[in-house]
Amino acid sequence: MGRIGEHGKLVDIKRGPFDPGGQPTVDSPNDLWLGLFAWNANSGCTASRATLKHPDGGQQIWRWDNASQLLQQADRMGLEFHLAAARWVGHGGDSRFHESFLEALSATPAAAAITENILGLATGHVTYGFHPMHFAKFGATVDHISGGRWGLNIVTGWVADEQAMFGQQFSDHEMRYDMADEFITLVKWAWSSEAPFSFEGDYFTSHGAIVDPKPTRKPRPFLVNAGSSPTGIDFAAKQCDWLFCLGDLRTVRSAADMLEERADAYRRKVESFTFAWLLIADSDAEAEAIYQDIVAEVDEEATDTFLLRGMQGSQSGRTGRTASDIERTFQIPDGVSLRQALGEEQYLATAIGLGGKHIIGGPATVAEQLRELHVAGRQRGIMLSFFDYFDGLTRLQRDVLPILRQMGIRQ
Ligand SMILES: Cc1cc2nc3c(=O)[nH]c(=O)nc-3n(C[C@H](O)[C@H](O)[C@H](O)COP(=O)(O)O)c2cc1C
Repeated sequence: MGRIGEHGKLVDIKRGPFDPGGQPTVDSPNDLWLGLFAWNANSGCTASRATLKHPDGGQQIWRWDNASQLLQQADRMGLEFHLAAARWVGHGGDSRFHESFLEALSATPAAAAITENILGLATGHVTYGFHPMHFAKFGATVDHISGGRWGLNIVTGWVADEQAMFGQQFSDHEMRYDMADEFITLVKWAWSSEAPFSFEGDYFTSHGAIVDPKPTRKPRPFLVNAGSSPTGIDFAAKQCDWLFCLGDLRTVRSAADMLEERADAYRRKVESFTFAWLLIADSDAEAEAIYQDIVAEVDEEATDTFLLRGMQGSQSGRTGRTASDIERTFQIPDGVSLRQALGEEQYLATAIGLGGKHIIGGPATVAEQLRELHVAGRQRGIMLSFFDYFDGLTRLQRDVLPILRQMGIRQ
């Protein structure tokens, strides 16, 4: 840049779809892509005291001694990606669910430095006060350190207590996505523009914006999102390359259909991914017995906090709702626990696996259910979490991947 006070032309595109140079593609020989989720979070995705009995692969996976080994194992196994989640406040309980959490943007370069091929996705809250130019510069830096193996999972936040931590009022759901749309448009300008430019948006302004070096991944690093509302899915269709959707086969298939329809309308290609919680044992009966032990130890305090925060976050435009406001809104009678009100199936779907599909069984059962999600569920990839990540990854590699190879969906 060099010239004092010269801030370049004022750009006019401030919302997606916006793909200067096109979209990045994954280079993988496999039909079904696999990833590792939440290796940076206390207890991973399992709100149960049972994780305390498996400290290294369970409650304490986030510790670098453990996490670094898991990441290297996932890389050696040929998994396509890992995704570091982002949480700023934990949900408590005896399991201290999500209380300790390595921050994703700063942990992914470390992950890149100890791995060779795996793509690292870092979750970043674009609504918590960072400027888009920070993310553009962070991303370009980690892209260089990783040799183009970095991407951003854009989240808009759903936890009022986190916004409070950043001194913010809990903001409206639709506004958060509008903000994300503008945020990421400015990031894309910064990653692609060779000359300084100026941007004057509704939420963000930048004069003389430039990022040098540019990312090595062309046309830019991967952008993913895990929104489940129609607005969230539309945002992914408009601005991202992958969407993570949650639920059973029917739900994820209809999310994939909706995503495809919206992405077509924007003349874009967005891949659909889902998320699953795996418990692999020698046999279906053994896996079921372990599962029942995890259920018996479910951490209700942590699960209730997580659920109540989610209910608060899913309602747009309401601020300052207390737990009892929410209980009234969702018509939960006095003296009835959240577990009773939601029913065992729905409650456990959150407590164990955070809403990801439970895949429990011996190797053949697990492989078949992964195949079903991929083929019948129309999912390009599946992101995995485990009760015990060390045991889970080892069994996946030894017992399940060979079956997926025989099925012809992985090499
Ligand atoms: C697989 C997956 C991973 C997610 N990771 C995070 C995360 O790390 N941090 C976060 O605040 N939200 C996370 N979310 C929440 C989503 O970004 C999103 O807010 C949520 O699905 C609700 O959808 P909506 O924003 O469209 O209402 C995740 C969701 C899914 C399905």
